[in-house]
Amino acid sequence: MAFSKSFFPLLVMLLLACSVQGQLLPNFYNSTCPRLQRIVRSATKQAINKDPRMGAAVLRIFFHDCFVTVREATATISFSFCFLLHLHHGFFSLISCSLLHGPRWQALLGRRDSRTAAGQFDAGANLPPADMEVPALIGLFASKGLDAKDMVALSGSHTIGETRCGVYRSRIYNDNNVDPNFAAIRKNNCPPVGGDNIWTPLDLQTPTRFDNKYYRNLLGGRGILHSDQALYSGGPVDSLVKLYSANNSEH
Ligand code: HEM
Repeated sequence: MAFSKSFFPLLVMLLLACSVQGQLLPNFYNSTCPRLQRIVRSATKQAINKDPRMGAAVLRIFFHDCFVTVREATATISFSFCFLLHLHHGFFSLISCSLLHGPRWQALLGRRDSRTAAGQFDAGANLPPADMEVPALIGLFASKGLDAKDMVALSGSHTIGETRCGVYRSRIYNDNNVDPNFAAIRKNNCPPVGGDNIWTPLDLQTPTRFDNKYYRNLLGGRGILHSDQALYSGGPVDSLVKLYSANNSEH
């Protein structure tokens, strides 16, 4: 393939630009890729039209990316910056929130890709399991520079996406703070034995809508994960769940 002579200087300039440590900015790509937002929006829209779950998958990837790579992220930007700006105010808001009828933020762009991949050990050590209780959740989020309010607000992401029977079986068969009608419905899709990989929406009523049904469900004992319901179980963050359940724009 023949490259034009003007292509190489451009490529070198782009590579140099990429290697410079910089600030995240809403207009980071304005001069290097002015059509970026339209291109990404259109590709994401297509992906979500094809499979509505793509929005949830992207959101979860950002959560895992930030939690697992926090030690690397702190080298250049603080974790809260990485997480709350990159996730809360970043890619997801830029491309997906409007598609999911959710809230919008100004996107700050320009975060560099990691040059290494995290191993399974890092993932296991940094990601919260579905049976985690509130004190441990608060501790884990605190270790990433996020407080209890951040933790409860970000957990509202479980208003979209799916989970597997093997992950929530114990919640619907064994927990005593579960709404019996909700458990009965969920058992239809999750037998007491087997079927571990049957997927089901985290929020049955509005599975692709970014709303506050997640919190309203918790008030009625209808959290699908044990860790979800733990946020409203007579503990220190009950009041936050109540706040977010009452106001769709708060979280
Ligand atoms: C508070 C602690 C959290 C715990 C214990 C937790 C746990 C889980 C679990 C167990 C699943 C289902 C995985 C499976 O069944 O294979 C899940 C799904 C998901 N989580 Fe979380 N999570 C937490 C916080 C978050 C946060 C902070 C976000 C984003 C900001 C998030 C976004 C998602 C999304 C979008 C899905 C659905 C993914 C899909 O459908 O592919 N979670 N989470």
